[in-house]
Amino acid sequence: MLVGLQEVLVKARAEKQAIAAFNVPNLEMIRAAIQAAEEVNTPVILQHAEGHGSLISLEEIGPIMLQYAKRSKVPVVVHLDHGKSFEMIMQAMKLGFTSVMIDASDLPFEENIARTKEIVKIAHSLGVSVEAELGHVFTSSLGGGEGRTPDDDQIGETDIYTDPKQAKDFVDATTVDCLAVAFGTVHGVYLKEPKLDLDRVKKIYDEVKIPLVMHGGSGVEASDYRTAIENGIAKINYYTYANQAGAAALRDYLKADNQDYFLEDCIEVATKGLREDYMEALKIFNGK
Ligand code: 13P
Repeated sequence: MLVGLQEVLVKARAEKQAIAAFNVPNLEMIRAAIQAAEEVNTPVILQHAEGHGSLISLEEIGPIMLQYAKRSKVPVVVHLDHGKSFEMIMQAMKLGFTSVMIDASDLPFEENIARTKEIVKIAHSLGVSVEAELGHVFTSSLGGGEGRTPDDDQIGETDIYTDPKQAKDFVDATTVDCLAVAFGTVHGVYLKEPKLDLDRVKKIYDEVKIPLVMHGGSGVEASDYRTAIENGIAKINYYTYANQAGAAALRDYLKADNQDYFLEDCIEVATKGLREDYMEALKIFNGK
């Protein structure tokens, strides 16, 4: 069933769990995400990033995401990830998305507040939840479209991390429902081992007391996920490493070169690899 973000995040936080938010820019990813969530019997978030518009448009994929969410046996949130433009955020709400992200994290603090407030006012009047970002989660050079890509040696710089006191001012001023925070994760493939400032997550949570969101959430150690969840993370954005797991399953399947291959079988194999990776992540995020 299609549900709002608030109801799943508040419950997850109370139970020290996090809800996985899978980016699903094609039908196979939508199906794998729903099947994995039903198998593990847990809520899930299907999300489309504005930056994935080159893969598929919101008009094309959005209605399919909503259709699968409505038919699912588990609660499913349909969310716009990294909404940058006012038009795209309005479009997601018009389609029936139950949650949107306004990502103005590249703008100065006051402008981030002003842009976020504008979206919150409209979204809340329609019963739609809002995620915003404070600090900035970088994107590695092997990643796609969700944040700024600096030189690889700049990744790990801490001046883009979220400041706990500033986070409180931001949340008080904007009344967002959840906040994406920067503490060392990176969108895309980790080119060096992430060093996560997990204490910062707790400090931010103690100030803002609303569910926090981990971006760059795939490719992290299981124990780090658990600590991050204990400390305040209730939504984990997860894309790159599941994407790679699907491709790895396909690569293994195609190794035997004495066989006739069919595209439909290739898609099945890749989707199974993806689904298994999703299920593993869902279990870790649930603490099971
Ligand atoms: P990953 O690239 O680590 O999977 O993160 C995805 C994400 O944060 C989308 O917003």
